Amino acid sequence: MIVYLNGEYLPREQARISPEDRGFLFADAVYEVVRFFRGRPYHLDEHVERMREGLAAIRIAADAGFYPEVAARLLDENGLAQSDAIVYAQDSRGAAPRTHAFPAADVQPTVFAFARVADPELPPEGGRALLVPDERWGRCDIKTVMLLPNVLAAQKAREAGAVDAILTRDGIAWEGTKANLFCVCDGAVRTAPNGHRILPGVTRGAALDAARRLGLTVEERPIATEELFTADEVFLASTTLWTYPLIEVDGRRVADGKPGRITRALKEELKREFLVS
Ligand code: PDD
Repeated sequence: MIVYLNGEYLPREQARISPEDRGFLFADAVYEVVRFFRGRPYHLDEHVERMREGLAAIRIAADAGFYPEVAARLLDENGLAQSDAIVYAQDSRGAAPRTHAFPAADVQPTVFAFARVADPELPPEGGRALLVPDERWGRCDIKTVMLLPNVLAAQKAREAGAVDAILTRDGIAWEGTKANLFCVCDGAVRTAPNGHRILPGVTRGAALDAARRLGLTVEERPIATEELFTADEVFLASTTLWTYPLIEVDGRRVADGKPGRITRALKEELKREFLVS
């Protein structure tokens, strides 16, 4: 595997990052995951823009403009130019002796990126989810690598045989550990509004647009946890999943326990838009 590190393309085994890197010591870094199908990116501009906003929000002086060129080269170097693949990229504040406040202005950010084949699709019959208290910080809209609450919740879900955990706080089901959460409630396709409690998912935005194109009513309004049990459909949305039906939450069936019609229609519409655009 050839990876990208600070301007160089090199075998993964030769990529070295300092133990004093602030990404390692403080999770002082942001990241992105972009999907590429046969070399064509899915909403790349929006991912680059989100990385720019994240870097600005945490005051890392780096430019996300490297993404398109680095991604294309990584796909090429790794024989993935004809595959369904993802390109991960991470930007940290760089390596410097450990002290909480920012290092000297001449410390360069660390930029690391790799490409790999996209995960295989999950079983079409849908998945189960667990409810887990949302213990993340107050700026979940910034895509930082500070993912320990997500990691612990995802592991709890895995140990319970569930596909993901739904993070809940103040009676609201906000999102999954690595995907946005939607329901079809009272005839509308609903997801939480953008703000500090969720990541402004690229797929979330694309799914809302797709729903509008299909003539569906959309609502950006929080989903009360209890509403998951009266919803007609519940689904996750992310770069790696498109939309994915949840058929059981915390051991309770969602609607009739079968993947919903709108979840499926939105996935088809997202893929259609991507493949014909
Ligand atoms: N996760 N919410 C969270 C907490 C996420 O981590 C992600 C993406 C999403 C969906 O965003 P998008 O549609 O832009 O992929 C929502 C990526 C895929 C990850 O961490 O691997």
